[in-house]
Amino acid sequence: MSTNIVWHQTAVTKEDRRKRNGHHSCILWFTGLSGSGKSTIANAVSKKLFDLGIQNYVLDGDNIRHGLNKDLGFSAADRTENIRRIGEVAKLFVDSGQFVLTAFISPFAQDRELVRRLVEKDEFIEIYVKCPLEECERRDPKGLYKKARNGEIRDFTGIDSPYEAPVSPELTIETHRYTIDECANQVIAYLCDRNFIK
Ligand code: PPS
Repeated sequence: MSTNIVWHQTAVTKEDRRKRNGHHSCILWFTGLSGSGKSTIANAVSKKLFDLGIQNYVLDGDNIRHGLNKDLGFSAADRTENIRRIGEVAKLFVDSGQFVLTAFISPFAQDRELVRRLVEKDEFIEIYVKCPLEECERRDPKGLYKKARNGEIRDFTGIDSPYEAPVSPELTIETHRYTIDECANQVIAYLCDRNFIK
C-alpha cells in the first residue's frame, strides 16, 4: 500500500474532453464465456463507432494478458486481480473522453460490480454476450475447450471453473441467434437510445 501520495487534478478535465469530442465516454463491458464472441462483437462495435467519428479503444483479454497482466493466471484470485486492473485502466479511458470496450470473460459478478462502482452510474454498460456453452464448445476457435475436456487445461471457464452470468445487464446480445453485424447494431442502437452518441 503506497503512503504519502496526493491525487493530482489534471488541467484538462473529462468534461473538456467530452465537449471537444462531442460525445459521452463510458465503459462497454462485454462479459461471456470463451468463444461467445466478446472480442468479435467488441471489435465490430469499435469499427462502427470509429466510422461515426467516435473516439474508442478495445481492451481484449488475450492481448492484455500478453503485457500488463502477463503475471496473472486463471485461479479465482488472479482473475479477480485481472479484472481489478482492467477496471482501473478502463476508468482512465473514460477520463480521457473515450468509449472503452472491454472483452474479458470476467466470470465473477462481484468483480464486475466492483468495476461498475469505480465509475459514475452512466459510465458502465454491462453487455452480456450470451451463447450456450454447447455452441461455444462447438465453435472452439482456439481449440481450448478440447484441451480442457482432455484435462490439458485446468480451471477452464464453463468446464471446471464457474461463470456467473449477469443478472440485470444493461444489454444482452445473443450471438447464436444473430449475425455479428446485427449484434453490433444492437449495441449501437442502445448507445443512440441513451443519447450517448448521435
Ligand atoms: S478472465 O476470466 O476474465 O480473467 O479471463 P480473460 O482475461 O478474459 O482471458 C480469457 C482468455 O484466456 C484464454 N484462456 C482461458 N480462458 C478461460 N479459462 C482458462 N483456464 C483459460 N486459459 C486460457 C482464452 O483464450 C480466453 O479468451 P476468450 O477470448 O475469452 O476465448
